[in-house]
Amino acid sequence: PALAPCDIVVFGGTGDLTVRKLLPALYQRYRDGQLPEGTRVIACSRAGLDDAGYRDKIRGELPRFVPNAELDQASAEAFIEGLEHVSLDVQDDHSWAGLTAKLPPVAGREHGNDRVRVFYLACAPSLFGPISAGLEGHGLINARSRVVLEKPIGRDLASALAINDAVGAVFDESQIFRIDHYLGKESVQNLLVTRFANAVLEPLWNGRAIDHVQITVAEAIGVGARAGYYDTSGALRDMVQNHLLQLLCLVAMEPPTQVDRDSVRDEKLKVLKALRPITAADAAEVTATGQYATYAEECERPDSTTETFVALKVEIENWRWAGVPFYLRTGKCLDARTSEIVIQFRPVPHPMFPDAEGTTEPNRLVITLQPDEGMQLHLIAKEPGPGGIRLRPVSLDLNYAATFSSRTPEAYERLLMDVVRGNPTLFMRRDEVEAAWAWTEPILAAWEEAGRQPETYPAGTSGPTAATTLIERDGRTWHTRSVS
Ligand code: BG6
Repeated sequence: PALAPCDIVVFGGTGDLTVRKLLPALYQRYRDGQLPEGTRVIACSRAGLDDAGYRDKIRGELPRFVPNAELDQASAEAFIEGLEHVSLDVQDDHSWAGLTAKLPPVAGREHGNDRVRVFYLACAPSLFGPISAGLEGHGLINARSRVVLEKPIGRDLASALAINDAVGAVFDESQIFRIDHYLGKESVQNLLVTRFANAVLEPLWNGRAIDHVQITVAEAIGVGARAGYYDTSGALRDMVQNHLLQLLCLVAMEPPTQVDRDSVRDEKLKVLKALRPITAADAAEVTATGQYATYAEECERPDSTTETFVALKVEIENWRWAGVPFYLRTGKCLDARTSEIVIQFRPVPHPMFPDAEGTTEPNRLVITLQPDEGMQLHLIAKEPGPGGIRLRPVSLDLNYAATFSSRTPEAYERLLMDVVRGNPTLFMRRDEVEAAWAWTEPILAAWEEAGRQPETYPAGTSGPTAATTLIERDGRTWHTRSVS
């Protein structure tokens, strides 16, 4: 059904995320005619700008974050001219008047025909509770309001519970959209389709056929301007607690009965609850951490022990995955930006070609999530020739860009429209976030207890040697991108 115009209010309106991701995503949806005529975007910040000042600012920034070929001057100008700005200091009750002047307070929440109101909290999580209370206190929440929470939802279980309670005191769970932008990536959604719209994979998708799974999210960039936040966080909190665990869930979960708001999230939750706890006794063996060499200097904390790289061996205690380790790794300042999932199959049960020359390697399915989305199935073939049998690894290669000519939308484009439409399937439910923290927290505690020091690795390399040791201890190796 056609969407009705709505109001999108962004807290943190001049922040990094809004400027780099949200406004470009809204612009793309506007350019495609998906944001209905009359939709308002109201940015709130403490910047002390009027509408014209904010528009000028965005006029300067938008071209930096929208690819040239996708920036149409006329539509960009129309989009920018529609933006509004309100100066608002959340903590100062009087300053809410600016917002209530633009967005009329409502008498109650019973008006089913109201315009959809999206409150996007692209700001520090410590403000999620106070903003929710402010919205309630100033009568801004109508029956069709939604609140979007950016990660991190807390920095441990207790703080996540506190945030969820504070927001939950004002909004119903069905109105709360917790973003994990990895779930909005085309390639991540495609994981579901690959697994469940094809019959050939699922019968093999278990410990009988699979030896182990690797999930890698490698970044080439360092922490840059985000050092202040990052140094209190680290790779485990910043990437594993959310993005990598979500990827793991999508790989490991049972088939949901349908793709709706609860079926998928129920299945992911079961995986999170089946994760084997990592204890202080085994943390040294199943976790490895690193810090890139220039990090401490970059964030001006010479004694920082924050990990910019983490590798983990994770086990899922259920029938499908018993005995199948999932090796996870993610880090910054690595040699390349690559996110991939590797499904390593077991060797053939009986070696039929013992005298053949060449190599036999067990089959491997490599799903590349970014930057070049694709899938490769590594097989063994006979090299053509009249003599005996010579075996050679080959691969079946699927490259999405070559197969589909359409533009791949950014994760935020999809997710923002899902919020407007009221579809929470790709957002994290409260119990998921809390289960993910409940599993992550003991690792942080174990590190603290052991006085963990991350291993220094040179920027632009594949990370600390401890990560190699972690997987080699099990007689396995990390997948490298050399394709035969
Ligand atoms: C964010 C993290 O959630 O994800 C960042 O806070 C990280 O540290 C980013 O760089 C990676 O996202 P993407 O989409 O570039 O893979």
